[in-house]
Amino acid sequence: MRIPVFEMERMQSTWENLVDYDMSESGVRPITLRGLVEMGLDLDAALDMPLGYSQSNGTLALRERLVALYPGSTVDHVEVTNGTSEANYLVALSLLQPGDEMAMELPNYMQLWGVPESLQAKVRTFRLRPDRQWEPDWDEFEQAVTPRTRLLYLSNPNNPSGAVLSDDAMRRIVARCEATGTIVLADEVYLGAELDGGRTRSFWGMSDRVVVTSGLSKAYGIPGVRIGWIVGPKPLIGTCWSQHDYLTIGPNKLSDMVARVAVAPDNRETLYARTRAILGENLPTIERWAAGFGRLIEFNRPRAGAMTLVRYRSEVPSLDLCERIRVEQSTLVVPGRHVGLEGYLRIWYGGRQEYITEGLRRIGAVLSTLG
Ligand SMILES: Cc1ncc(COP(=O)(O)O)c(C=O)c1O
Repeated sequence: MRIPVFEMERMQSTWENLVDYDMSESGVRPITLRGLVEMGLDLDAALDMPLGYSQSNGTLALRERLVALYPGSTVDHVEVTNGTSEANYLVALSLLQPGDEMAMELPNYMQLWGVPESLQAKVRTFRLRPDRQWEPDWDEFEQAVTPRTRLLYLSNPNNPSGAVLSDDAMRRIVARCEATGTIVLADEVYLGAELDGGRTRSFWGMSDRVVVTSGLSKAYGIPGVRIGWIVGPKPLIGTCWSQHDYLTIGPNKLSDMVARVAVAPDNRETLYARTRAILGENLPTIERWAAGFGRLIEFNRPRAGAMTLVRYRSEVPSLDLCERIRVEQSTLVVPGRHVGLEGYLRIWYGGRQEYITEGLRRIGAVLSTLG
C-alpha cells in the first residue's frame, strides 16, 4: 500500500516540540487530569483497576453515554476508537474499494485526502467559498458528488476555516447524497467549540446515509487520551469493528474511563463552556493583531474552533512563508497549502493569552516584511 505523506501532521510532528511557539495547533489548551478529577474522575478507582484489555468497541457504559448524544442510536450504532482520526480511517477502510470515488470539501483537514489514495480510490474536491461565508460552491459540489461517489467527507465545524454550514446547506448536501447513493461522513470533532451563535447542528439523523465521527480532542479539550467514536448504520459499524480488530483491537482502558466522565451531560457542558471561554477571551487579541496589518491580511472570524484562516496579500507561497516564520522566529504555523487553500495561513489562538500574544508578534515580524 502506497500512502502519501500527510504533510500537515508530518510538519507538526517534526517541529511542534522543537519550536519556541507552536501556533499550528487546532484545539484549546488541554485540561489536566486534576481538572477531570474535579469533575468526578475517580483516580483512586483507576489506581486499583487492572490494566487489562478494555471492551474493544468501547465499554457499554461509554457507548450508553454516547448514544444519549445521538437520538435514535443504540449501542450497536457506536464504535469507540483511538481518536477521531482512527474513526475516520476505519470508515474509509470499510467503505472504499479500488476504483471508487470519494468527494471532499476544501479547505479541510486532509486526512481523508491521503487515505483514499492509499486505497486506490479517486478523490474529487469542491471549494468552500470564502467570499460566500464558506458556503460550498454548489456547481463544483454537484460535479464532485455524482452516482459514482461512494463517500463524501466534511468537517463541520470546518477545520481550518472555523465555518459552520447553514441548515439549508446541510439539507442540500444530504439530499444530493441520497440521490447519488453517497454516504456522508460528517467529522464533528469541533461541534461544541462554537464561539457564539448556538450549538452546531449534527448531521446525525438527517438520513440513514449519514455517518458521524467525533472525539474528545477539540471541543472537549482532551486530545491526549486519544478517544474518538463513529456513529453510523449498524452494518457499517460492524465492518468498522472488524477493521478495528486488525488495526489496534480497541481503545485504552484508562482513556475509556476518562471519556465516560467527559461525556457525562453536565461535564460535557462544563468542558464546552471552558472551551468557549478560552476562545472568547483570546479572539479579541488575534482580531486586534490582524487589524494592525491593514490591507496586507484579511481576517476571517471563525464561528467555532481554536484556529483562524488568515489570507495574506502576497505572491509568496504559503509553504515558503511558514518556513521563514519557523526558521527566523522559531514559530510554527500551518501553511494554507497543507489544508487545501493557497495564500492563507492557519493560525492557532486556543492557548494562554501571553503565549498567543508572543506567537502572533513573531508571525507578524515576518508578515510585515511582505508589505
Ligand atoms: C477535522 C479533524 N478531524 C480529526 C482530527 C484528528 O482528531 P483526533 O485527535 O481526535 O484523532 C483533527 C485534528 O486536528 C481534525 O481537525
